[in-house]
Amino acid sequence: MTSALLRNIAAQDFAEYRGRVTRLSGARIEADGPLSRLGDYCEIETATGDDVLAEVVVVEPERLILMPLAASSAVSLGGRVVASQRFSRFIVGDGLANRALDALGRPIDGQADPADVESIERRSVLAAALDRVTPDRRITTGLRAIDMLLPIGEGQRIGIFAASGVGKTSLVEQLSRQIECDHVILCLVGERGREVEALWSGHRDKPAGAATTIVAATSDESASMRVRAVEQALAMAEHWRGKGRHVVLFIDSVTRLALALREVGLAAGEPPTLRALTPNVFSALPKIVERCGAIRGGGAITAIFTVLSETDDVDDPIVELMKSLLDGHVILSRRLAEKVHFPAIDVGSSVSRLASHLLDGDALDLSRQVQTILAEYAEARTMVESGIYRKGSSAAIDRAIEIIPLLNEFLRQPASEHADPGAATRQLRALLVDGPTHG
Ligand SMILES: Nc1ncnc2c1ncn2[C@@H]1O[C@H](COP(=O)(O)OP(=O)(O)O)[C@@H](O)[C@H]1O
Ligand SMILES: [Mg+2]
Repeated sequence: MTSALLRNIAAQDFAEYRGRVTRLSGARIEADGPLSRLGDYCEIETATGDDVLAEVVVVEPERLILMPLAASSAVSLGGRVVASQRFSRFIVGDGLANRALDALGRPIDGQADPADVESIERRSVLAAALDRVTPDRRITTGLRAIDMLLPIGEGQRIGIFAASGVGKTSLVEQLSRQIECDHVILCLVGERGREVEALWSGHRDKPAGAATTIVAATSDESASMRVRAVEQALAMAEHWRGKGRHVVLFIDSVTRLALALREVGLAAGEPPTLRALTPNVFSALPKIVERCGAIRGGGAITAIFTVLSETDDVDDPIVELMKSLLDGHVILSRRLAEKVHFPAIDVGSSVSRLASHLLDGDALDLSRQVQTILAEYAEARTMVESGIYRKGSSAAIDRAIEIIPLLNEFLRQPASEHADPGAATRQLRALLVDGPTHG
């Protein structure tokens, strides 16, 4: 009898699932409950009847600090705070292929709620560990500059670095339409609504290619939503990778993600450090990169991150961090963009750490020849462009001067052109062997 009673008591749940708003200041809301863990979601009841969803960013013995995910002006002191089961989970599954979603998994493509989805605990995906393998299979992107000279491997993590307006988003758009894989996930963080719309219509109307999912949190949405968009996109990518599929995940842009993380960090009381960024920025980005990649036994997430790099001379901590984390850098150059050379990929400055793994002997040889010519030219550029260089002084520079215009012609490519790698290899070989005579 006693033991039955004790068992009964032990089975009871005495946790407090409700709290009240105790303080409001700027973007943060304090409450005296419910009992929560970091990263949990709560709904805050308001007088207007529209509950405000908020994320728990600080847990202390007597108080919680929450970051609202939407406009919070309707929240008032004493408002009830209730733990939200639904939004402490992500949705994943095949029903999300060819859909556009917000950071909470709600459709933004004008169609009904996705069917054929499961939900998974946010906490469980954030903790997963991986048995990763080095990429050894080249992906075809249909972009000559990349396929021939800066090849991307299945499961590789690469960055596209450029100043603003040089073509990061445009390159992401072209790659996402053409790249060979099972699923494309376009995670758009802090873009303008108009850009999201344009990207989505480009995918909706494309004749062929991989199933595409857009997860977007635009610039007018809260910092928590912008961070969550990336988590939702990663959860989907990991789900499909777990089924043995090849997912290409684009995150545009990591810089805006870092700014959103900083906003969350500041609200949680973290101290601003380098360039006013908070420590959580430097711990979150490596984890995001680590979660991508190819795993033993099949399935891969190839990740392509865009990073804003405004100037070449000042060290930008986000640029430095991402370069150290990623195994390939595609650098876009304003100089090329100004010459209407698109995609504005500066092949000489870009790095493909896996080129020797991914290209076969012949293609690797061609790519090395091109890199040598570009390096020769880069050294002599100032002399050549200022007219000081005299033809005949160096056979290597003479050859570079002849080949470079042809090479630029080869590397320029309209956004609508899908280049066949076989044909591109033949073109490149002809260009290097025959030189200007056949140009
Ligand atoms: N492949 C391309 N072909 C033609 N124009 C391009 C191309 N890529 C970029 N541009 C031009 O550059 C502008 C800015 O590109 P965008 O991709 O938005 O840059 P970012 O994302 O780096 O700010 C575009 O509006 C377009 O005018
Ligand atoms: Mg952009």
